[in-house]
Amino acid sequence: MEQTGFNRDVNIRGLTSLDADRIIEIIKGLPEWFTPNVIPQIKDDMGRMKGFVAVVSGVVRGFILLDDRDCCIEIAWLAVERGFHGRGLGSLLVHVAEEYACKKGKRVLTVKTYGGMDYEPYMGTLKFYFKTGFKLYEIIDNYQPFNGQPAAILLKVLDCNGQH
Ligand SMILES: CC(C)(COP(=O)(O)OP(=O)(O)OC[C@H]1O[C@@H](n2cnc3c(N)ncnc32)[C@H](O)[C@@H]1OP(=O)(O)O)[C@@H](O)C(=O)NCCC(=O)NCCS
Repeated sequence: MEQTGFNRDVNIRGLTSLDADRIIEIIKGLPEWFTPNVIPQIKDDMGRMKGFVAVVSGVVRGFILLDDRDCCIEIAWLAVERGFHGRGLGSLLVHVAEEYACKKGKRVLTVKTYGGMDYEPYMGTLKFYFKTGFKLYEIIDNYQPFNGQPAAILLKVLDCNGQH
């Protein structure tokens, strides 16, 4: 288990199939961000993507799933349990994603998120990504994988030789 330098109470470790139920519980607790129809997709992605979990006092409180693409590493899913927001867990998971990307020889971390700018919960999500160093690359107005809703494409270029 990796002890992080960010917060001595938090451990980050690789996600395993044993974490699946806990991950789904976290997702179900965040209905402003995740509708129930995404659960089968998350379960499927857990089986094929690299994932990490943030563990606080022995309990998983957040997770990230990473899609290894030709261009980059894409954050496919990221969530922190309600009640644990604002304690640095999301930043820590992004940091671990950066380390993973660098290890894989990738220099770009990317994420697609709701880009409508009209819905407070996802405005907060965008603020989080800006705080963690992502830049807005593009807004796609009619993004089919989001059922025709707008998507914000965010990128972070990594300095793999420096500190993240
Ligand atoms: C987005 C999310 C993962 C952030 O995790 P977190 O642990 O709360 O974030 P952190 O505590 O590491 O916050 C890092 C910075 O972002 C800021 N931030 C986080 N959420 C924010 C929000 N809703 N509004 C404004 N700023 C926010 C924090 O204030 C902090 O800034 P600081 O460094 O100046 O203190 C978490 O809020 C979450 O699970 N949200 C719901 C699901 C979601 O949006 N997932 C991403 C889908 S693409």
